[in-house]
Amino acid sequence: MTLLNGHAPLSPAAQRRIEHHEADIVIVGAGVLGCALAVALGNQGRSVILLEKSLEEPNRIVGELLQPGGVQALEQLGLRDCLEDIDGIDVRGYWVSYFGEPVLLEYPKSSPTSPTPLGRAFHHGRFVMKLRAAALSCPNVTVIETKVTGLIASSYTQEILGVECITKDVKDCYFGQLTVAADGYNSDFRKEHHQYTPKRRSKFYGLELIDAKLPAPNTGHVLLSDNPPVLMYQIGTHETRILIDIPDNLPEASIKNGGVKGYMRNNILPKLPEGAQQSFSDALEQGQLRSMPNSFLPASANKTPGLMILGDALNMRHPLTGGGMTVALNDVCVIRELLSPERVPNLSNTGLVLEQLAEFHWKRKNSSSVINILAQALYALFAADNYYLKALQRGCFRYFQIGPVGGPVGLLAGLIKKPLVLVSHFFSVAFLAIWVHICNTPLFKLILAPYYAFMILYTASVVILPYIWTEIWY
Ligand SMILES: Cc1cc2nc3c(=O)[nH]c(=O)nc-3n(C[C@H](O)[C@H](O)[C@H](O)COP(=O)(O)OP(=O)(O)OC[C@H]3O[C@@H](n4cnc5c(N)ncnc54)[C@H](O)[C@@H]3O)c2cc1C
Ligand SMILES: *[C@@H]1O[C@H](CO)[C@@H](O)[C@H](O)[C@H]1NC(C)=O
Repeated sequence: MTLLNGHAPLSPAAQRRIEHHEADIVIVGAGVLGCALAVALGNQGRSVILLEKSLEEPNRIVGELLQPGGVQALEQLGLRDCLEDIDGIDVRGYWVSYFGEPVLLEYPKSSPTSPTPLGRAFHHGRFVMKLRAAALSCPNVTVIETKVTGLIASSYTQEILGVECITKDVKDCYFGQLTVAADGYNSDFRKEHHQYTPKRRSKFYGLELIDAKLPAPNTGHVLLSDNPPVLMYQIGTHETRILIDIPDNLPEASIKNGGVKGYMRNNILPKLPEGAQQSFSDALEQGQLRSMPNSFLPASANKTPGLMILGDALNMRHPLTGGGMTVALNDVCVIRELLSPERVPNLSNTGLVLEQLAEFHWKRKNSSSVINILAQALYALFAADNYYLKALQRGCFRYFQIGPVGGPVGLLAGLIKKPLVLVSHFFSVAFLAIWVHICNTPLFKLILAPYYAFMILYTASVVILPYIWTEIWY
């Protein structure tokens, strides 16, 4: 038996992973999805190799607010601990301000006597390091730092057999019965095996504010105005993340107008809550501005034998609603069930695995569809760039003020997993928008009311129906 550092002898499976580079499952990418999946499948007794190009603590502006639905999924996976000891902040809901007028939206309770479900905000890197530690401490998982450079396919069956990689400048490979591409938004391995390519309409620019005072502690802040949406949430005792959406080709952020920094100084700073203005201009001075593309990528069914694409590599939506990690963790829960040893005793049975993956494609939609459609539709309203979208934006805010609050926020939180509930709220927003619009229309223009009503309803349909269609049919 091989001894590692003179400690306990390795199991035969661990020996196969370390010496022969061979396991049941090879996962590319130890991000949120890769780590959670490695632990989930390792706990089922599968032998797992988890490959990551850098095991240093990630320093990114993404994945910093986990919705209550994601916290529940973590709990189901036995990984709730990963939210502790990272200086995280409880999140009780949202605070939305519309041209300075605020409304507080708490996450809905499952019953009047139960506590408010909580989300959690944190530094992304700290959370990922906790997940990686969980994977490292799982005896059936081996974590290796290596940059994966390609998939290895059988020239005979086209089946994916494993991956090629470079470990400390040396070429290397790993083999598994099932290879998982969980390499994130810019996946190298999705290209030939995914039906769609990501579409980007805007970027989020991020800054970290120190000791900002927010109007409503323990909530996600959404600022709506003439500008595209701005998000703020506390991610540590002293740190607050601000994310500023800038659509491609936004005139206010053109070079002529001082570029992105000019836009922030002239358009964003004056509209921030007072308690955040000083820390914002300090952060802007220090120039730590970073950006990430906001992409939309519908999921496509995995059809390549021996391969499974998951996480951001599979499916992305605008990060406005902070849904990405919740989708990823819910997917891990679904996959764990569909590929359990009871259902798939041997992962080398690629036919059976493909059948399970076809089922996964539909089953995951229970939780992912609502989050995907809502993110895209809300973004269209919140970044309203035409007259009727602005009317819908106003209707949406009024709906937050007077409507059944739990509904929309419950959808966003990943707690309500019913697409029809989403559709009914969305069209309620449209009808309210029509009503508000007509109430604000001067008497002599009222003859145009049916026209406005039609255009608002038409705009609402154009916003949401393509996304619903994508989720239902593909
Ligand atoms: C601006 C922005 C803000 C966001 N905010 C939120 C939020 O508040 N809440 C939320 O839930 N979601 C948010 N998201 C989405 C969230 O970040 C993602 O959904 C989530 O990180 C996806 O996890 P993943 O494991 O698929 O990918 P990642 O977390 O990106 O992990 C991929 C891993 O693969 C590794 N890797 C890549 N290529 C290779 C290779 N060739 N070899 C080896 N390893 C490799 C990477 O180093 C990385 O560790 C946001 C996204 C954006 C763009
Ligand atoms: C590891 O896998 C073995 C079977 O290969 C299983 O008996 C054991 O429970 C697993 N260990 C853990 C901690 O999940």
